[in-house]
Amino acid sequence: MKYNGTHLFQKIYDYAIHRIESGEWKAHDKLPSVRSMAEKMKVHRLTVLKAYQLLKDQKKIYVKDRSGYFVRPEGLQTIDPSDNPIVSSFLYKNHLSEIHQIEVDYQFSKALINPNLLPNHFFAEFLKDVLLKEPEMIGTYSSLEGDLELREQLAAFFAEQSDIHVHSDELLICSGSQSMISLVAQTFLKRGDMVLLERPSYSMAIDVFLREGAQVETVDISPTGYDMEEIEEKMKQHRPKIFYLNPTFQNPTGYTVPSKQRKQLVELAEKYPCLILEDDTQYDMYFEQKPPAPVFAYDTEGYVIYLRSYSKYICPGLRIAVAACRYPLMKHLKIAKSLADNGVPLVNQKMFLPYFFSERMQLHIEKLRIALAVRKELMEAELAHSNWRWQSPDGGLNLWIQLPDRLPVDKLLSLALKNSISFVPGEICDPLKENRSWIRLSYSFVSESKIQSGVSKLLELAKEIET
Ligand SMILES: Cc1ncc(COP(=O)(O)O)c(C=O)c1O
Repeated sequence: MKYNGTHLFQKIYDYAIHRIESGEWKAHDKLPSVRSMAEKMKVHRLTVLKAYQLLKDQKKIYVKDRSGYFVRPEGLQTIDPSDNPIVSSFLYKNHLSEIHQIEVDYQFSKALINPNLLPNHFFAEFLKDVLLKEPEMIGTYSSLEGDLELREQLAAFFAEQSDIHVHSDELLICSGSQSMISLVAQTFLKRGDMVLLERPSYSMAIDVFLREGAQVETVDISPTGYDMEEIEEKMKQHRPKIFYLNPTFQNPTGYTVPSKQRKQLVELAEKYPCLILEDDTQYDMYFEQKPPAPVFAYDTEGYVIYLRSYSKYICPGLRIAVAACRYPLMKHLKIAKSLADNGVPLVNQKMFLPYFFSERMQLHIEKLRIALAVRKELMEAELAHSNWRWQSPDGGLNLWIQLPDRLPVDKLLSLALKNSISFVPGEICDPLKENRSWIRLSYSFVSESKIQSGVSKLLELAKEIET
């Protein structure tokens, strides 16, 4: 991220406050000197001084003449973080969930599958049988890495379906891929480390990396993928610890990175040692053609952590996802997972296993692809009456749309919410928070009939603003 003066100051403030709040810096501990902090964080000394001054004004630290700054005993507990604009905007922010919490009739902000598109009744019947056959599973913990049978079957399935060749020991079952993004960030990053993100990117991943105190650099993603020279330049110059990417039907854009670039990415990760976190949550949601093999398929040296989630389109109630990586990385991930939750509930895994591999389930995925393609086409047909621009995706759940210059996103969003329509403003998907002209419209949650009426209403509101 190109920090301007304000951002730099917030970075220092954020760094210190996290340490105080987490207890890493205890009461009466001495803070790093202004000079050493400025050198460490590569900022001017005045910036550090300004941040320390604010901490002092807020009674989180105190000064001893000539000795420096120290943590005040009461620290943060006396202050409600939501009262402080810097704390509330930089600690534990989840921009997407704030929008999702707004109740509206037309939910174009939720990139979730409408529950009516999932075979819930069939699944309920199925669950009863599984439970009755193996009731002892309720009284048993799962192993840390996840049920062996499930991992073995997933390994075989990956080899057949996605050119991924893994041993069951290279798989770790997790509860939704979001938990794994967070765990990877916690495990492999230190505050101030550099992370490379696609621009735009999945909003809840951006928020995870910011929460960890990462510095952020970006590379644009376009309908043809990345500019590989730009990536190499950024890796060379900034030495990011992690490159987080979502290369298949990317959220929010729907763009897919081509095979050649996937292969080159692994080469770059090896050349400038950088961990690639490949988030492949939408892999199965293609409309016609299967997407290219994942980046992970090219990883022989252990630079990629691959995430595949089944929480969205199989059964959100079970939230099964899986992480794949080679041994040295897996060792660290397992330790981190043991400290975080010690494994996913066994019942969820045992129920997922036969259901996922059943014929009915595979049929369901086929039907779901068609249902999503129809919804996408309905939305595009309605949008064709506007001068909005987008690239039609080959899979996924969203349209990434550029609005005309004279239609400000914030005005449209506020008018839309008043009229019970929500969507995601592009700004929250932008790690640099500068994007002012794009929006994400999801077609997966709203019913077919509501897609037409909702988009038509939204276009009318846009006209109101433009005229
Ligand atoms: C790109 C991306 N990654 C991760 C997630 C989180 O998925 P899960 O439900 O598996 O936690 C989502 C959900 O929207 C997503 O779009």
